[in-house]
Amino acid sequence: MTGIPPGDPPRWRFTTDRLRAREMDNFDLAFIAAMLGDARVMHFYPKVLDRDESLAWIARQRQRYRDDGHGLWLLEARATGEPVGQCGVTMQDVDGVREVEVGYLLHADHWKRGLATEAAQAARDWARERYPDRRIISLVRPENVASCAVAERNGMTVAGETMRAGWRHVIYATMPTAGATR
Ligand SMILES: CC(C)(COP(=O)(O)OP(=O)(O)OC[C@H]1O[C@@H](n2cnc3c(N)ncnc32)[C@H](O)[C@@H]1OP(=O)(O)O)[C@@H](O)C(=O)NCCC(=O)NCCS
Repeated sequence: MTGIPPGDPPRWRFTTDRLRAREMDNFDLAFIAAMLGDARVMHFYPKVLDRDESLAWIARQRQRYRDDGHGLWLLEARATGEPVGQCGVTMQDVDGVREVEVGYLLHADHWKRGLATEAAQAARDWARERYPDRRIISLVRPENVASCAVAERNGMTVAGETMRAGWRHVIYATMPTAGATR
């Protein structure tokens, strides 16, 4: 079910030592639904997603690819081609300002091996190249210690707080470069 159709070579958005990222599509549904249907993975999100909601999730990323040129991408293990999670760059409205966010979410089978950190660093570099005058953020619930650790390993520091889905979120941000808009 998961994989690239023959004859349709993927355009890698980034590669790291162990990972590569590409646009996700409906043929990734089995993996995405398994990942987003897992209560451990969705512990800090409003709910687990069922198959139809996972399909809508993929459609939302594809809309982002069209609108912004980027979104959350599917992460594959380079060694095997196995899907392991998603990571990428999304535009987020934070208190009325459009910000550039690095997001990451891994299938629970692949946690605690440094993969999220590896992917997040590559996504941050991708975002910096695309938006050189902008700070890059990650929005994280403070209870989500694993995600806070990834943001810190990604060179971000706490820059403020905001509310998302009724929950307090820490705004982790890269240091603004000279001439940054925010
Ligand atoms: C957050 C998440 C992506 C981290 O993925 P990961 O690949 O396990 O993270 P890493 O292996 O790169 O670990 C990064 C750091 O977090 C620590 N960490 C990872 N999981 C942890 C946990 N459950 N509890 C405490 N620390 C944890 C690691 O030890 C590491 O710190 P270190 O460098 O000091 O050793 C993963 O737990 C996940 O997908 N969670 C569900 C989705 C989610 O919450 N996404 C983030 C939303 S903001």
